[in-house]
Amino acid sequence: MLAASRLRLGLAGSCILATSGLIFNYSNRRVSSDSRLPRLLDREEIKNCFKEAHGESSSTRYDVAEVAALGEDATCHGHVGRYECWGIFDGHSGWCCSNFVSKHILDYMRDSFKSKRRSKWFSLLDNVFDRGLSDGDVDEAISDAFCRLDNDIITAPLNALKENDAQLAAAALPIALNGSCAMLAMYEPLRKSLKIALVGDSRSVLGEQDAHGVWHARNLTVDQTGDNPDEAARVRSEHPDDPSTIVARGRVLGYQPSRTFGDAVTKWTKEDQSSLSEVFWINRHHPLLKTPPYLTAKPVITTTAIDPSKPTFLVMGCDGLFEWLTNKQVVELVGEYLRHNQLIPCLPSTVVQDESTDNSAKDFLRPQALKWSDLQPTVEDDNLASHLIRNALGGAEFTKVSLLLSIPSPLARRHRDDITCTVVLFKPT
Ligand SMILES: *[C@@H]1O[C@H](CO)[C@@H](O)[C@H](O)[C@H]1NC(C)=O
Ligand SMILES: *[C@@H]1O[C@H](CO)[C@@H](O)[C@H](O)[C@H]1NC(C)=O
Ligand SMILES: *[C@@H]1O[C@H](CO)[C@@H](O)[C@H](O)[C@H]1NC(C)=O
Repeated sequence: MLAASRLRLGLAGSCILATSGLIFNYSNRRVSSDSRLPRLLDREEIKNCFKEAHGESSSTRYDVAEVAALGEDATCHGHVGRYECWGIFDGHSGWCCSNFVSKHILDYMRDSFKSKRRSKWFSLLDNVFDRGLSDGDVDEAISDAFCRLDNDIITAPLNALKENDAQLAAAALPIALNGSCAMLAMYEPLRKSLKIALVGDSRSVLGEQDAHGVWHARNLTVDQTGDNPDEAARVRSEHPDDPSTIVARGRVLGYQPSRTFGDAVTKWTKEDQSSLSEVFWINRHHPLLKTPPYLTAKPVITTTAIDPSKPTFLVMGCDGLFEWLTNKQVVELVGEYLRHNQLIPCLPSTVVQDESTDNSAKDFLRPQALKWSDLQPTVEDDNLASHLIRNALGGAEFTKVSLLLSIPSPLARRHRDDITCTVVLFKPT
């Protein structure tokens, strides 16, 4: 998912960032005056790089921010039954799949919830008190919604072709050929239950403050990539007759995430791909393709109880955020923000104990030359998600932030990914 880095590290702290035709030299905090070169953005212009959203209910406040490198990410927010939902969709090979999934996933969820309810026998009392579905039923409904939506995406071009509707097939094809990770957080305020459904390698981290003021960082997800031994074993066991090289160098059939929406070339049969390629230009099928589907949109779902007596927040981010920051740093940064702006009552402390078993930043994704050694936190954004992204890109070191945001798309992709982040604050009751 990341193009080869073209960065070179200069001596004595002078870092030269060279992309084809663009040279930045930020050791002297100045960029060539050559008008063909982009200049560093100023503070006002940087604000415009963030696409922000914000909302509030009696039980939560949430902040969303995106900074585009290629503009392939998408987000969503809405309600399904008693659940308030926030989604992050990290697209690849284009923006079509992530945008489609973000627009339709909640409707698919509502349908799944409805048919789950219909298939159960609900007593009058259950309905009056809206006891709703059991935990297990909810998980099944989520899983069903994800798989149905992906199946519809993958089969749409094939069905259209069968009906000789080439125009519809052409419209459906980019959605199926593009791919997207998906992470959906769902909060049920009565049960104070938080569910995370994950497809791909986005991350959810929970920050919770104890009575001594110490923040505890917990991972609520495990990255689903070919590097995850459980995922590699799952894929191999689902394809016992395939060569074990279908998972190689941390990738499944060449894809970094081991679960995704779209990416139809890993899901269509050879015959499907041949019949499509008679009408459309699509790449020859992968040489290892034998028993598709390989990638799946079946989510891994976790359920976490939110303790209303403790200050608690959730940070959801795509890998573009976590390639810069560790889980611990993410919790430290929100702690720093809450120390400045008491959005929820909490002790003014930024001490963090890291309890996430997988706390590493995904810095193997990140160009070596731009690895910030120390976090230089700054609090200057109103939006908590923008606050995290700004600090990921350099924090108080304004020139670093400005430099990374000045590189135009699509060149920016060589130095940073699309970064999307949602922060949910749970209001104590
Ligand atoms: C970058 O700036 C430093 C400090 O002004 C200078 O010494 C160095 O030669 C510059 N490097 C390039 C490649 O321009
Ligand atoms: C993804 O969608 C874009 C936009 O329609 C398209 O140009 C691109 O070819 C698609 N990607 C793939 C791998 O087909
Ligand atoms: C946290 O990460 C570890 C290691 O990746 C994993 O074993 C554990 O299940 C994760 N926790 C949750 C709640 O997913």
